[in-house]
Amino acid sequence: MKTHLVSGGCGFVGKNMVRRLYNSTNDRIIFIDDLSVGTHPKTWLDAPYQKNIKEIEVYGNDERLLFLKEDFRNVLHWLGEDAEWFNNHFELDFEKFHDVYHFAAIVGGRAKIDGDPIMVALDLAIDAEFFYWISRHKPERVLYPSSSAAYPVNLQTEENQVQLKESDIDFNNMGQPDMTYGWSKLTGEFLAKITAKHYGVNITCIRPFSGYGEDQDYSYPVPAIARRAVHREEPFEVWGTGYQGRDFVHIDDVLDCIHVAMEKIHDGTAINIGMGRLTNFREIIKLFCEFAGYSPEIKQLLDKPVGVHSRYCNMDWVNKNLGWEPKISIREGMRRVYDAVYKKEINQ
Ligand SMILES: NC(=O)c1ccc[n+]([C@@H]2O[C@H](COP(=O)([O-])OP(=O)(O)OC[C@H]3O[C@@H](n4cnc5c(N)ncnc54)[C@H](O)[C@@H]3O)[C@@H](O)[C@H]2O)c1
Repeated sequence: MKTHLVSGGCGFVGKNMVRRLYNSTNDRIIFIDDLSVGTHPKTWLDAPYQKNIKEIEVYGNDERLLFLKEDFRNVLHWLGEDAEWFNNHFELDFEKFHDVYHFAAIVGGRAKIDGDPIMVALDLAIDAEFFYWISRHKPERVLYPSSSAAYPVNLQTEENQVQLKESDIDFNNMGQPDMTYGWSKLTGEFLAKITAKHYGVNITCIRPFSGYGEDQDYSYPVPAIARRAVHREEPFEVWGTGYQGRDFVHIDDVLDCIHVAMEKIHDGTAINIGMGRLTNFREIIKLFCEFAGYSPEIKQLLDKPVGVHSRYCNMDWVNKNLGWEPKISIREGMRRVYDAVYKKEINQ
């Protein structure tokens, strides 16, 4: 049986990946999260709890889901080069991880990225330990999520709105990424390239734009706006002018694209994942309020952090080289979020 590892497996992307791997394979999945942001699997996993092997919680009738609440940096030390200590301690029997998905990171929304940049910079420590470990352990395949925040901010201003292409990040000719978050993601991409080239590890990097979905935390704008629309906020508050735009992409599309990319990219190359479309926050508010059946006045909150003005991607490289394109329209995806938030808010 193959064994996969998911770090940050209780966060937004991680838990969606854990569920998908469990439902689409017969493989064993070990997922790690310190629950600093993520929520305990009992709150989101359909598979039933079975037993504990020491600190590991085992889920699913076939006992293929193994959860460990721990700082991933500690786990990386315990795993060591060959996972022998880890296997002995937890009475497991795998030799090598097949796929490793590294979602453990300090992310937060705009408030954290701008408000506590040195805390976010701890991602550099997590990623450095991570790449060191994979250079030794050499799993079959590795997924490193970078971010659209790695792109130079001067290409994302009101005057200079461009569809960001993969080649807009050029290690020989660099622009400035978005705060410590963007710097750490950019460094992570660089480490991925080096690890693939010098240590022969298969690595795929992705730059998701604004991923959203039904079970995203309310600290993110899409579910937060949906909740306020469900409660019919009036006037409707928006951070900044609301004309700043992002490339919103549904989590199911993100996971689909990861699957295709990991089949085809092994040298640490980073790809965009987005719709290739700029949507501003006023448009999102309008859509959710339409679902809620009202049309409020918009109130701008100009003292709130808003980040760059326009961040969206060019999907030509991915379309051409991977033959992939997103399937879930903004309207359909946002409807799914609205319905999920409505159910949660009105039934609680
Ligand atoms: N969601 C998006 O649209 C998006 C966009 C671009 C990039 N990404 C990247 O994808 C990854 C996952 O993002 P997300 O949206 O799921 O974020 P998230 O905050 O929901 O998930 C991160 C998870 O990592 C956990 N974590 C943090 N530090 C840890 C540590 N030291 N040890 C163990 N667990 C730890 C948190 O508890 C959380 O559950 C991140 O690397 C992020 O930069 C996400």
